[in-house]
Amino acid sequence: MALVKLVNIEKRWGNVVGVARQSLDIQDGEFMVFLGPSGCGKTTTMRMVAGLEEPSDGQIWIGDKDVTDALPKDRDVAMVFQNYGLYPHMSVADNIGYPLKIRGVGREERQRQVQEVAQKVELEHLLARRPRDLSGGQRQRVALARAIVRRPQVFLMDEPLSNLDAKLRASMRAEIRRLQAEMRITTIYVTHDQIEAMTLADRIVVMKSGVIQQLGTPAEVYARPANLFVAGFVGSPPMNLLSATVQGGVVHVGVQRLDGLTPPATAQGDVVLGVRPEDLRVAAEGSAQDGEALLKGQVYMSELTGDAVLLTVEVGKDRLCVRGDRHLRLAIGDPVALALPAQHCHFFDPKTEARL
Ligand SMILES: Nc1ncnc2c1ncn2[C@@H]1O[C@H](COP(=O)(O)OP(=O)(O)OP(=O)(O)O)[C@@H](O)[C@H]1O
Ligand SMILES: [Mg+2]
Repeated sequence: MALVKLVNIEKRWGNVVGVARQSLDIQDGEFMVFLGPSGCGKTTTMRMVAGLEEPSDGQIWIGDKDVTDALPKDRDVAMVFQNYGLYPHMSVADNIGYPLKIRGVGREERQRQVQEVAQKVELEHLLARRPRDLSGGQRQRVALARAIVRRPQVFLMDEPLSNLDAKLRASMRAEIRRLQAEMRITTIYVTHDQIEAMTLADRIVVMKSGVIQQLGTPAEVYARPANLFVAGFVGSPPMNLLSATVQGGVVHVGVQRLDGLTPPATAQGDVVLGVRPEDLRVAAEGSAQDGEALLKGQVYMSELTGDAVLLTVEVGKDRLCVRGDRHLRLAIGDPVALALPAQHCHFFDPKTEARL
């Protein structure tokens, strides 16, 4: 059953289109992540679900209720913002308990629930403090606890981890995922960070310029990007995208003929050939194995990242990134042969940018 339903939802300001007639079903208990670059309409979409922004067109359903015209307080959603939005003059306990207080929950019951939620996010020992005496991660947990204590039908989270350092972000990310799995509360989570999207989501919505580009599980989006935009956006380092041609089923990159690849029947003439850095193999022996094609180039740069070597290889006028074994030692200018596995090559139409 779809718990949150967007039906042809649109947001315009004059002739600025923030979100362009999009439809989307979010399942009960699902963790849905909106992923896309700055300005693609993530926050606007979320604010329309929250009731903080009025759609120019379309309807929003939560459960079996059309909430398009409902006030935010009547929608049973809890939002966690990037800047936390805590009350500075209140203690942690009062911040967390505030939504219960305005609902008229009695003092003792409030204390009991605050205690229970504080335990979930490991804040019991900090309940008497003020927000200014907390670290960024602790403040984030207070904001999270305040959302949890409401037990809403839907959590809305807009880049909630972006003010935290990398290490804290990774641990809070795991924490959010665990809490959500435990509580099974339908969640919409906004981020421009594709790692965050991959690790958190049941399904990802990739957006660009107010338009949904792809909807799928992290594994689906990663394995079969729907178009060039998604291919370039999801993955780090991103997928290599090479200009190529296909004639009679044979792929050429520049003057090199890539025997062994099996382009789809729809790939004809100019195409974009995509291959991820980790799917390329440095063929030290200089030959391809079954189901591989060989591409020759020169080392442009070699970087040791610790667990791997990132090679940049120049092939004609293109540069490819290759994720190689950390023991790989190649010098700038060295000739190198790259093996492309046929089953991990992606073909795109350079005009429509769609996957072929
Ligand atoms: N009140 C407004 N008036 C006009 N345009 C607006 C208004 N609010 C947002 N926009 C535009 O709508 C588009 C989508 O904005 P939105 O805030 O949803 O982006 P976002 O995906 O959340 O980006 P970010 O990652 O930077 O937060 C942007 O181009 C933005 O400039
Ligand atoms: Mg935003």
